[in-house]
Amino acid sequence: MACTRCPLYETRHHVVFGVGPEHSEVMFIGEGPGEQEDLKGEPFVGRAGQFLDEMLYIIGLSRKNCYIANIVKCRPPGNRDPLNVERDACSDWLRSQIRLISPKLIVCLGRIAAMEFIDPEFRISRQHGSWVEIDGIWRTALYHPSALLRDPTKRPETFRDLISLKQMVLEHCPNTILEG
Ligand code: URA
Repeated sequence: MACTRCPLYETRHHVVFGVGPEHSEVMFIGEGPGEQEDLKGEPFVGRAGQFLDEMLYIIGLSRKNCYIANIVKCRPPGNRDPLNVERDACSDWLRSQIRLISPKLIVCLGRIAAMEFIDPEFRISRQHGSWVEIDGIWRTALYHPSALLRDPTKRPETFRDLISLKQMVLEHCPNTILEG
């Protein structure tokens, strides 16, 4: 993939497309690659990614039974939030990914993804962990793993959100074998 639709291509090392089985029933969507992801070409492989792996492990998910992608596929310099023009330029890629993967559940990681996929007015501190069905896909948002690293007091709420996610997987994802 040699996309040049937005200026992020000038500073990226790798396009970070996504990881996971192509027919995953659960899809996680973050914001955009950080430094490690840009260097390795895989989403969530830095510190936040290790924390995400731990969150998944708690409920029997892993990179083998869910799909992980980002709103933008190239690293915004200095890890700033992706700009609207960058998100707009990238949105066709993610929408095609969602169409092909056809997940039953979308889990937004953080406010930026939740504003894109659940509600432009989404308030992460009030609405994390709530579920809504849009276009036949159940959607929720968790605090971004980076926020949980910065502020451990949010972790108990996230633990409850993960238990609710596990329940939704058991109800809606017959082909997802939870590990452990
Ligand atoms: N944060 C994100 O939102 N995505 C990544 O891939 C890494 C860190």
